Amino acid sequence: MLLRTLFRSNPSQEHCAMVLFGRNCSEFVRPPPIRTSTRQQTTQTPDTDQLQHLQNELSKSKFSYLHCHVPEIVEVCQRDMLVHENFISEEEEEILFKEVEPKLKRILRYEFDHWDDAIHGYREVERSDWSEQSQPILQRVRRLAFPPGVPQLHLVHVLDLAKEGWIKPHVDSVKFAGNTIAGLSLLSPSVMRLVHNDNRGWVADVLLKPRSLYIMRDAMRYDYTHEILKAEESKFRGEEVPRNRRVSVICRNEPPVATTD
Ligand code: OGA
Ligand code: MN
Repeated sequence: MLLRTLFRSNPSQEHCAMVLFGRNCSEFVRPPPIRTSTRQQTTQTPDTDQLQHLQNELSKSKFSYLHCHVPEIVEVCQRDMLVHENFISEEEEEILFKEVEPKLKRILRYEFDHWDDAIHGYREVERSDWSEQSQPILQRVRRLAFPPGVPQLHLVHVLDLAKEGWIKPHVDSVKFAGNTIAGLSLLSPSVMRLVHNDNRGWVADVLLKPRSLYIMRDAMRYDYTHEILKAEESKFRGEEVPRNRRVSVICRNEPPVATTD
């Protein structure tokens, strides 16, 4: 049972966060600590040539999964939001999918009803007892995402997003997960949008292809909301990214012991 903090900005610039406890009840709590960058936040628009140059450089580089107009965010993404395309092979994708599909199917319906939930059109399970075939795949994820000795959540979170489903902007609960979120994407491509908590004009889009692994950590994990765009909005650099059913397999680490929330 994972907790997500929905993050919303209101006109008075105060933030309202809702932590969802399971699926049936919710309760308001204080928002997560926002570690605002000491860097001056600018609303100044960089000139068009500069932007074009930035985009061209990104699309040619190993950060071709990133689309962003704000140089400051590019810097944060290049450090704290890494995407490894083709991290798993098609065969490995099938191994994982075949393992989780029967468990997901036991949940007969995708959840569409809860207006206050962070996710629309989903079902999810958490697993710790993986098959011998899947274990080495998850080990590779864990080894890359978490330095040795970092206590990790034992349960792996599997989120099945329907073709019509989407994930609203939220920050994962700081109470229940640590600084790093590592997610494998199976089946459908999607676009993950990252928006700065305090400056909602600071936006970056990240293309998550099937079989890619993203590792989101630190500033990206705490100071930015993340969301998965719905089918109608699923575009990357102006090109449609056709959404279909998407399954993500997510590893997280333990929160720090003395979290004050
Ligand atoms: C979540 C989440 C992202 C993903 O479950 O909190 O943000 O890749 N998932 O499915
Ligand atoms: Mn999340």
